[in-house]
Amino acid sequence: MDRASLVIGYRVRGKCDRSRYHGSEMKNTARILNGIEIAAEIKAEVAAEVRALQAEGITPGLVVVLVGHVAASEIYVRSKVKTSAESITTDEMLALIADLNARDEVDGILIQLPLPGHVDTRRLLEAVSPEKDVDGFHPINAGRLQSGRPALAPCTPAGILEILRRSKLPIAGQHAVVLGRSDIVGKPAAMMLLNAHATVTVCHSKTVDIGRYTRDADILVAAIGRPGFVTAEMVKPGATLIDVGINRLTDAAEVERFFPGDAERAAQLARRGSTLVGDIHPAAFALSGAFTPVPGGVGALTIAMLMHNTVQAAKARRGGRGKA
Ligand code: GUN
Repeated sequence: MDRASLVIGYRVRGKCDRSRYHGSEMKNTARILNGIEIAAEIKAEVAAEVRALQAEGITPGLVVVLVGHVAASEIYVRSKVKTSAESITTDEMLALIADLNARDEVDGILIQLPLPGHVDTRRLLEAVSPEKDVDGFHPINAGRLQSGRPALAPCTPAGILEILRRSKLPIAGQHAVVLGRSDIVGKPAAMMLLNAHATVTVCHSKTVDIGRYTRDADILVAAIGRPGFVTAEMVKPGATLIDVGINRLTDAAEVERFFPGDAERAAQLARRGSTLVGDIHPAAFALSGAFTPVPGGVGALTIAMLMHNTVQAAKARRGGRGKA
């Protein structure tokens, strides 16, 4: 069993290039919400908290459990520590989780999703001690979040709220429309926006005429995993667009359709064999008041929020010690 200490000190890579999101003939008025910068800010704060805890002899520990070879999970886990077992059963995993729950040096447990089909995901997520549930997936934490009590909140939606707050964008009284109702993003994002006093609409695959709702959104959160689903006609000019989608494009014609005349994207496709696009069409970004780019937007926040949750879990479990 590997155990990870939180890393103090980060190298921030990558830049946001405004020209990638706007045709050169368009006016560049939309503000780019740079997730990499915001994540660096949060990581620096978390690192300071870790140093304060370490001065008291506490090193927050996080365990990431990866099972099998689900490609999406392997990609996601690359920057985390992994514990891998090819043919582990639900019962064996339950025993592993019980062991991690009991270990004092483990503050956070993350079971990387999706799990292979042969294990019972729901049962395993419920077996994680709510106090160590740094993903916020346990029903106890979902319930705490729903009732507005302090909770370990899912990392991606928590990152979205951090982006909005740290960018000083209003939430209270705004109409927030969330596309997608997953337990990982859509539902908790809706709940957190509601807790922050937005008026919230959740749209999903069975919603009739999604554009009718999105066109009224002051804040639009797209988390449905469909490349460029939200088109320019679907957004209110000046809206805040939060793009949670990470979709890989491999086809040159498709890349040209999303990024017409964008030599940098074409070069990236030639170099890497793919380029990323979110759930929001780049042409919609040009109309927005502010938007999160893909890559370099919401995705950059998720690991920062995981570190944040791990430190919060460490502090809460040790009776609030280590407060700066
Ligand atoms: N797979 C994709 N996103 C997530 C996440 O936030 N947490 C976990 N555990 N698995 C994921």
